[in-house]
Amino acid sequence: MNGKFPQHFLWGGAVAANQVEGAYQADGKGLSTSDLQPQGIFGAITPRTAGDSGIKDVAIDFYHRYPEDIALFAEMGFKCLRTSIAWTRIFPQGDEETPNEAGLAFYDRLFDEMAKYGIQPLITLSHYEMPYGLVKHYGGWGDRRTIDFFERYARTVFERYKHKVKYWLTFNEINMSLHAPFTGVGLPPESDKSAIYQAIHHQLVASAKAVKACHEIVPEGKIGNMLLGGILYPLSCKPEDLLETQRQNRDWLFFGDVQARGYYPAYMQRFFRENGIQVAITEEDRRTLRETIDFISFSYYMSGCVTADPEQYETARGNILDMVPNPHLASSEWGWQIDPIGLRYLLNVLYDRYQKPLFIVENGLGAKDRVEADGSINDDYRINYLNDHLVQVAEAIDDGVEVMGYTSWGPIDLVSASKAEMSKRYGFIHVDRDDAGNGSLERRRKKSFYWYRDVIHSNGASLKDRR
Ligand code: BG6
Repeated sequence: MNGKFPQHFLWGGAVAANQVEGAYQADGKGLSTSDLQPQGIFGAITPRTAGDSGIKDVAIDFYHRYPEDIALFAEMGFKCLRTSIAWTRIFPQGDEETPNEAGLAFYDRLFDEMAKYGIQPLITLSHYEMPYGLVKHYGGWGDRRTIDFFERYARTVFERYKHKVKYWLTFNEINMSLHAPFTGVGLPPESDKSAIYQAIHHQLVASAKAVKACHEIVPEGKIGNMLLGGILYPLSCKPEDLLETQRQNRDWLFFGDVQARGYYPAYMQRFFRENGIQVAITEEDRRTLRETIDFISFSYYMSGCVTADPEQYETARGNILDMVPNPHLASSEWGWQIDPIGLRYLLNVLYDRYQKPLFIVENGLGAKDRVEADGSINDDYRINYLNDHLVQVAEAIDDGVEVMGYTSWGPIDLVSASKAEMSKRYGFIHVDRDDAGNGSLERRRKKSFYWYRDVIHSNGASLKDRR
């Protein structure tokens, strides 16, 4: 392997509050949109009543067990842990004037625990959840006032944790709102395109306001966006397929373009016009958007293909995205196509486009694991997946791409986002809990735990080029 990981490369893992913490009503926490999706992003939106329960209500009980989990991450040598703050722990309904002290105190304890081991927090302000109060009373991100509520929340946590947290992200997979409007912007799933893009616009303005606030408040702070890096290839070399691929890649690159460049790209004018989309953008909004992010972060699980021919269109089971399957790639048990080279390609695409440092903040394999009679879990499939992707990261570094770090998704088993399953496991650490919520919650090291420890310890030198 030629590519060398930089000396201060941020190795680690990534989780999200609503997929690990549980304690969904503890210490004054309000209900979030995630609490209304007990079956995950693809499940129904369910009103909560006292006494009902969903798998996420306890999740893996990280709220109470974080010291044990952080110690295990430290044992692997993590330099960085990505998690999110649950907005509803800080502002339970979203529109309060003053924050909830008990919620703030929890994250103080969490960040202090990480600091004991020298693990840098990378904090997402909003990971697939917002206060349900804002949805109920204001219509979520459809209402401009949500920008102010978010800014208040962002300024509150920047002030509180400015000496503990240097790295921040605004909205998780901000482009997902196009596919899951309730999860992304708190709008009903059947909302029309104008409503969705208006809400997205408000969120982009809020993101820029958070960037400005971070720059003002957090000394040495760095703040990035977070994109679902759903890179698409043309299914054939037909010019029509190429053009359609460019169009569909722009659907998600649009978000990065606004956040990294500070203005709406020219191609969106035609897109809005031809799709009858009306978005109200004020002059002040345009000025606000000029405050741009310091780095680009993204998730990468799979690539997909595009064809301009509707007859050939056949959908693959993707993470909310309906991608055409690539005939040259194998798939995971959940039908996600495995494409390590796609990660090198994506890193190059993003670096060519933005010339900003990149941070891979999610990548991993969701798979069923078997616990052997002796208690071991031999997850070679996960090791191979991660190894091959990291080899491609090294290649991209050798290509000249500036990569800040890599946080694999779900270093400890957690509740999956799309269908709220425990059996779709990503972890180096096994958690004893099944899809029905049975289990002791006991933690157990998998084979990949030791593998990742060696990768971090050797700063990538132990990776194997298996091509
Ligand atoms: C990303 C999300 O889309 O993919 C995570 O940011 C999510 O929250 C991850 O967990 C994997 O998806 P899933 O559905 O397998 O959990």
